[in-house]
Amino acid sequence: MRDYYAKRAPIYNESMRYGTEARDIELVSVVESLVASCKGQEVLEVACGPGFWSAKVASHARSLTAVDATPEMTALARDALNQFSNVDVLDWDAYQLSRLNRKFSVIFMVDWWSHVPRAQVSPFVYELGEVLKPAGKVIVIDGWAGTGYGTISTQVDPQTLDTIQMRKLPNGQIYPVVKNTPTEHELRDAFRSPSFDSDSTHYVSDAASKRWIFEVSAQK
Ligand SMILES: C[S@@+](CC[C@H](N)C(=O)[O-])C[C@H]1O[C@@H](n2cnc3c(N)ncnc32)[C@H](O)[C@@H]1O
Repeated sequence: MRDYYAKRAPIYNESMRYGTEARDIELVSVVESLVASCKGQEVLEVACGPGFWSAKVASHARSLTAVDATPEMTALARDALNQFSNVDVLDWDAYQLSRLNRKFSVIFMVDWWSHVPRAQVSPFVYELGEVLKPAGKVIVIDGWAGTGYGTISTQVDPQTLDTIQMRKLPNGQIYPVVKNTPTEHELRDAFRSPSFDSDSTHYVSDAASKRWIFEVSAQK
């Protein structure tokens, strides 16, 4: 996965059509909703990539810590965010968030949840709980099923039940990438843990961007 994203990093924004007028229009309601949630908050962004979403949030958040495990991505994110004094970009594994030794009032991630193998969902949710402040909120944003740059075939692993997309990069290299699309019910189930109030969840599906947004609050 990291190897795939290391190779894709230089073309990531282009491959997502980020920064084009048409894409901005598609994403407007998702961006507005995310920015509203991050206003004045101490924000953690998981798997920030080259910093497209970080840049949307940075000037509204009190602070933003953006983490990603692929150095080729964090290098781009640092470039994209260097004008913001309230932003830190860290090379960090999403499955090791508790080692940040810091808590945040809002945690968000875009197009990351779908890459978490089913077997890692519970440990990942545990890590989220460890770095979320009381009364804090987790926001998960991801794409509808069937979306995935350069996908040439898709199959479900019979053992893990993860959906695996075979993805081709412009240089011809092909990588297997986990790309699960959870239902709202599965998302709510994933956050049935002592850290979260699973009755506080909110799910919306946005046709313009072909994305869903799931929110859950910390346990009171
Ligand atoms: C689909 S991209 C999303 C990037 C960004 N959130 C966006 O929407 O533009 C997935 C990101 O996950 C990162 N990643 C892969 N494995 C990771 C891990 N174990 N911990 C943190 N980030 C990881 C990749 O480097 C990549 O930047």
